[in-house]
Amino acid sequence: MAGPWPVPDLTGRTIVVTGANSGIGKATARQLASAGAHVVMAARDRSRGTAARDQLRRATGNEAVDLVVFDLSDRASVRDGAAGILELAPRLHGLVNNAGLVLSDRRLSADGVEMTLAVNHLGPFLLTALLADRLLASAPSRVVTVSSISHRQPVRGLDFDDLGTEHRYRALKAYGRSKLANVLFTRELARRTAGTGLTANCCHPGVVATGYSGDGDTSGWLAWGFAEITPILLTPDQGARTPVYLVSAPELAAVSGQYFVGRRVRRPSRAARDPDAARRLWEVSRLATGLTTAELPPDRWPQGAATGRAVGTAGDGRRGDGKRGGGRRGDGDDTIFPVRP
Ligand SMILES: NC(=O)c1ccc[n+]([C@@H]2O[C@H](COP(=O)([O-])OP(=O)(O)OC[C@H]3O[C@@H](n4cnc5c(N)ncnc54)[C@H](OP(=O)(O)O)[C@@H]3O)[C@@H](O)[C@H]2O)c1
Repeated sequence: MAGPWPVPDLTGRTIVVTGANSGIGKATARQLASAGAHVVMAARDRSRGTAARDQLRRATGNEAVDLVVFDLSDRASVRDGAAGILELAPRLHGLVNNAGLVLSDRRLSADGVEMTLAVNHLGPFLLTALLADRLLASAPSRVVTVSSISHRQPVRGLDFDDLGTEHRYRALKAYGRSKLANVLFTRELARRTAGTGLTANCCHPGVVATGYSGDGDTSGWLAWGFAEITPILLTPDQGARTPVYLVSAPELAAVSGQYFVGRRVRRPSRAARDPDAARRLWEVSRLATGLTTAELPPDRWPQGAATGRAVGTAGDGRRGDGKRGGGRRGDGDDTIFPVRP
């Protein structure tokens, strides 16, 4: 685990942190704000998010801490959230995809997708894609995704015939798959953005005492297990050191596509190093999130691809009537994650 690390002066840098109202995300937002960054906190609950934002402003003395509220499990909400971020951030230097959950019981999102995959992978995938032009225009910039050592759990890799874990759902099985998806996403994003000044890295933050099993998300032995090990875990501030390091360390300016534990690059699992799986997951995710090929280049982002195109303009799939819709399906395929509650 990384020890204390002097965060560089981040004045003039704007960084988005998802899941920023609690746990590792809140500590990450606090450390970045303390270093002078303009931090855009993303939270799914307005009152929890507002309380955390106000607390961080007081604690850091940095008034440039903003809040955007959206639900990563809901495509339309992610589109609204991305539009809100783009309004607050004319320049965007970092995105920390931190929000995540683990669920004892299988649930479906509003879009009919298994919830763990929706929140931990598809939501961050969509958000990153919608912010990519702004990140590219603001390069050097970084996307950091908080994965987990649990990405090693699906030893045979992703089951593309059952990405929604309909067959024999178990909490840690769905969670491990989503965290493997985080590493595959990072490696494919790094490949697609090579040479643009945008880097993509991911990490295991350590085993951290957070509200991870809270709000009734887990029950039975899983909730008991989390409670039992809490006293020996890292604090959220310790857990935040790795994402903060990845999004800010000068020595990582040209490092991309890597999996970190603490401040060290580690080799991720064999399944996470499968380039065909990474490409396939990217394409499945593009279809499942309803991204058009105009929003997401078919393969690499061309050098200096920044167009300044904002979410919410014509052709981006948002409804013109201001109602939240599912986004244009483009050439999407609703059958990728069949809904069988
Ligand atoms: N804790 C660990 O030991 C550990 C180990 C390895 C990896 N990680 C990873 O670290 C990340 C942060 O977890 P944490 O331990 O800090 O847990 P946490 O305290 O429960 O934080 C999770 C955050 O994600 C947010 N979130 C959940 N569902 C969401 C949704 N649908 N839309 C938007 N935001 C949503 C939560 O919001 P609410 O507060 O509204 O629920 C919360 O802010 C996760 O990606 C997790 O997989 C944690």
